[in-house]
Amino acid sequence: MGEAAIRLESLGYTYPSEPPLETLVDVSMEIERGSFVSLLGPSGCGKSTLLQVLAGLLAPTSGTAEIEGESTVERPGLAAFMPQRDLLLPWRRAEANATLGAEIAGIPREEARRQASELYERFGLEGFEHSWPSELSGGMRQRLALLRTFLMPRDTLLLDEPFGALDALTRREMQQWLQDVWARDGRTVLLVTHDVDEALLLSDAVYVMSPRPGRIVERIEVGLERPRKSADTTSAGFTALKARVFAALEAV
Ligand SMILES: Nc1ncnc2c1ncn2[C@@H]1O[C@H](COP(=O)(O)OP(=O)(O)OP(=O)(O)O)[C@@H](O)[C@H]1O
Ligand SMILES: [Mg+2]
Repeated sequence: MGEAAIRLESLGYTYPSEPPLETLVDVSMEIERGSFVSLLGPSGCGKSTLLQVLAGLLAPTSGTAEIEGESTVERPGLAAFMPQRDLLLPWRRAEANATLGAEIAGIPREEARRQASELYERFGLEGFEHSWPSELSGGMRQRLALLRTFLMPRDTLLLDEPFGALDALTRREMQQWLQDVWARDGRTVLLVTHDVDEALLLSDAVYVMSPRPGRIVERIEVGLERPRKSADTTSAGFTALKARVFAALEAV
């Protein structure tokens, strides 16, 4: 008890390019275990950079980043990470793509396959286990990349725009579905998104970032009752929260 799932303290990150690019400044956040939190901000503000620090792929320039009380510096893999591009391997069938993260995390292939076989139905991929990625629709590819992330034996999930490439209707279906999966799963999710409705529909709290160099402008608690439906996005409570998010986005 007590440990936050994710804790950032005065995190700063500057890319060591020529000239150096100051990307994150004084970012602090604390995310409770089991909660669903979104990170919202304009393109290029540093959202993917922040997830890469949490994923242990970039070391902070200043401040600290912890998952479950452990520093992420040079510790890739403390959390399950779904990068912004789905990175399915075209030469592996769906099943072999699904089990990749689990295998890298040390789960024997047969055990990973067994665990995956229990999830295809929930992820809408039943019957497609032996398909090639190129034979799947855009939504199915993203669900497969998500399935791979969920199969990693980690309590914290970092999702970078998992529905970025989808049309509005499919996206709404997928949001509904993710809410469902998360509610049954009990793990912590940090979701990066551009989509204000998506962030409010899914989250317990939303962090709003400024343009680069990214800072946290505001943390907004979303106290709306669950489960939430697409139709709720027009309710008075939802609309009021939306106005707060837009005010925070425009304040800088
Ligand atoms: N490897 C790198 N070297 C130098 N600069 C980089 C590198 N990767 C990203 N950047 C720059 O860092 C800034 C933040 O990029 P990042 O990908 O974190 O933004 P983002 O908020 O995820 O944007 P988007 O919403 O478009 O995905 C951008 O200005 C980008 O050009
Ligand atoms: Mg990004």
